[in-house]
Amino acid sequence: MELVDWLWILHPALAVVFVYPLLGVVARSGGQTRHRRVDRAKLPPTVGRDHQDLGKWLTTGVVSLVLVAITVSIVTKSFWADPGQQMLRAWSLVLVLAGTVASLLVLWCVQQRWQRILFALLTWAGVLGLGAQPEVWRVSDDPRTLAFWTAHYWTGVGLVALLLFAMAIRPEITRRLAWRRVHLATVMAAAILFMVQGISGSKDLLEIPLSWQQPAIYQCDFNARRCPGAEQASLGTTVIHPVG
Ligand code: HEM
Ligand code: HEM
Repeated sequence: MELVDWLWILHPALAVVFVYPLLGVVARSGGQTRHRRVDRAKLPPTVGRDHQDLGKWLTTGVVSLVLVAITVSIVTKSFWADPGQQMLRAWSLVLVLAGTVASLLVLWCVQQRWQRILFALLTWAGVLGLGAQPEVWRVSDDPRTLAFWTAHYWTGVGLVALLLFAMAIRPEITRRLAWRRVHLATVMAAAILFMVQGISGSKDLLEIPLSWQQPAIYQCDFNARRCPGAEQASLGTTVIHPVG
């Protein structure tokens, strides 16, 4: 594997090693928080606080994961081959990336409701702005197509929105039953999207060739599902021995 291939698996690796295990812990502590409140279970009073803190880390983890995927896409598809090209565009993108990270960090600290909503929106806008670049594979931008609703990119940014929303309304969830119900509804949708991401991400991983295989693979006709020379190969041999 080349350096560029390692960069491409950074995002799936971070998802598997950090984000999904953390999701398990957050879901478990959320369940305990509810169990303590509704069933008066004998659990430490800190479970709600722990859940909230871990939830903040989960949101931060997913936003970072998405930023890594998008940055790697843009850098490897555009700026890798010719670092000197489009300096103005490069600096604008770096600025948007820095602004997105800064908004997320500020969201950790701000207390007032309007500030929480503003910085959650700014973080999401930054993710959408970077994701709108032509190097990012979004499958379809048309919400009237099925491809849009099943695209790894669009379900990913949808998940980011739900988690940022949870982070923005955290004091309200603690104080009001109605907001707690809103939280439960949104995290159920988020749980489904986490599952969808795991499936569509693994599928994408299977479809993307290693850098040295790309010149051959991209000669294939993806609609007809045929590659040049495939007919002769299938006539010649029946058993194929992979070489690693
Ligand atoms: C997908 C992951 C998540 C799941 C499954 C989840 C689940 C839950 C559940 C079941 C409750 C208890 C509700 C009740 O008492 O009826 C809860 C409470 C809460 N959650 Fe989450 N949650 C998740 C993510 C988050 C995130 C990202 C945040 C934001 C940082 C967050 C903040 C809170 C807060 C502040 C409470 C109230 C805690 C308290 O009463 O002290 N949750 N969550
Ligand atoms: C929390 C879960 C996840 C979220 C929110 C998420 C989100 C994203 C986003 C927004 C992109 C950018 C699209 C691009 O740059 O072209 C992306 C790319 C990618 N993701 Fe994920 N992802 C998640 C989990 C996973 C997992 C578990 C895998 C694999 C095991 C995976 C594999 C990939 C691959 C291979 C790409 C690059 C190819 C493509 O664009 O489809 N992702 N992801």
